[in-house]
Amino acid sequence: MTETAVAALKEVLGARGWLEGADALTYERDQRGLYQGKSLLVARPTDTAQVSEVVKICASHGICIVAQGGNTGLCGGSVPIGDRPSIILSLARMNRLLSVDPDRYSVTVEAGCILQTIHDAAEAANRRFGMDWGARGSATAGGGISTNAGGLNVLKFGTTRDQVLGLEVVLADGRIWDGLRSLRKDSSGYDLKHIFIGSEGTLGIVTKAVLKLYPRPRRETSMFVTLTDVARLAEIYTLARDMLSDKLTAFELLAGPFLEIAVQRNKSLRRPIEGSADWFLLLRAAGADDVKEDLLAFFEAAVERGLSDDGALAESEAQERSFWVIRDEVSPMKILGSQLWKWDAAVPIDRMSEFYFAARRTAEKIHPALNVYAYGHVGDGNWHMSMGPGEGLDDATFDSLHDVTIRTLDELIWEFGGTISAEHGIGVENRLRVVGQKPAVEREYMAGLKRLFDPKGVFNPGKLIDVAPTA
Ligand code: MLT
Ligand code: ZN
Repeated sequence: MTETAVAALKEVLGARGWLEGADALTYERDQRGLYQGKSLLVARPTDTAQVSEVVKICASHGICIVAQGGNTGLCGGSVPIGDRPSIILSLARMNRLLSVDPDRYSVTVEAGCILQTIHDAAEAANRRFGMDWGARGSATAGGGISTNAGGLNVLKFGTTRDQVLGLEVVLADGRIWDGLRSLRKDSSGYDLKHIFIGSEGTLGIVTKAVLKLYPRPRRETSMFVTLTDVARLAEIYTLARDMLSDKLTAFELLAGPFLEIAVQRNKSLRRPIEGSADWFLLLRAAGADDVKEDLLAFFEAAVERGLSDDGALAESEAQERSFWVIRDEVSPMKILGSQLWKWDAAVPIDRMSEFYFAARRTAEKIHPALNVYAYGHVGDGNWHMSMGPGEGLDDATFDSLHDVTIRTLDELIWEFGGTISAEHGIGVENRLRVVGQKPAVEREYMAGLKRLFDPKGVFNPGKLIDVAPTA
């Protein structure tokens, strides 16, 4: 039965449209090397019609389908898990940028289109594209849509959900929903696209999207400043917001020790500020007129209030780019490796420091040698936290503390009115953790959606939500 299905899939996909065996290995393992699955084959369709045929064949043979974009996810959402026979549906060959429409302020792309491609096309058309994070060179539009990814521009443009004007989706019975609209307004009833955004391939396969573009700012620059006291994070953020108003487009917090490691490892990077500090902030301002004066005025006011004691304004575009390379280089995976426990928490913006200190106290109570590493997207109330074993904590004891630490920290996040996943999604990693975050009625309706859209449970089983198939 499975053999018949695999033969039919190969037939539909053509000789270059599938991979198996050793060639499939890199698709079967997530980028952190924490999740490794097995696939019958990796389907590499070139168009929506092929995706539809693939879904029909799989659905009629009870084969599960795991959609995969750039495989840059951080929660194991894009590789198969469990024992049910599965294929990986890679959107890598559906990577075309179908149109750039500067007058409409939108682009239309296939789901496998790489973020960097969209950024380049937008800049060439004197426009700006919103979705931006470290993996922009390999992450895809469809992958970002599937997790409602965040990144570095959320303060200005919102998350991926806010970028999507329209979608094309292949449904569980193989039908194609053409919702590829580019309207700015549409109050004609339920907005189906929002059900698919953030659904991690569990309800359908996103094949195309219309995404927003924005005017390209005429002037733009960035500045590094030190933060003297992380307890005063909300104060300095509000100062920047008040002084720069809508010109503030990014406000990132970096841990001093991470920055040190990043500049030491990458010899092409220059330290933005000579002295060391526990915390640095990286701000970007943009507008129609010069924004340097605005940034400097903010910095002076911050120094006057004792919030900062050093700063560096980017003097050239090259220097500004290097500031943002430093930001890309401080991700915990690059600095600490992937084996540490991680949180991608969001709490109300004004409670970020309070949460940070509470998290540290919680960790210390569990074990005094648990090291907490943190940095974040301040404008989004988003802390990326990791924990690892400090001196005197052996690996076995560290491992034994995992469950209690995750549970205790997650409960703390909820006490703060927060979420355990701000921008990385749920995948397999957070599937059980997220259960405590939503009231029973919300989970019941989510499960109802899953049953409605995917009655046979073929789309990405074991991810995001556990629902037994009904058909
Ligand atoms: C970041 O902001 O650096 C990203 O979310 C990636 C990460 O956490 O590794
Ligand atoms: Zn992030």
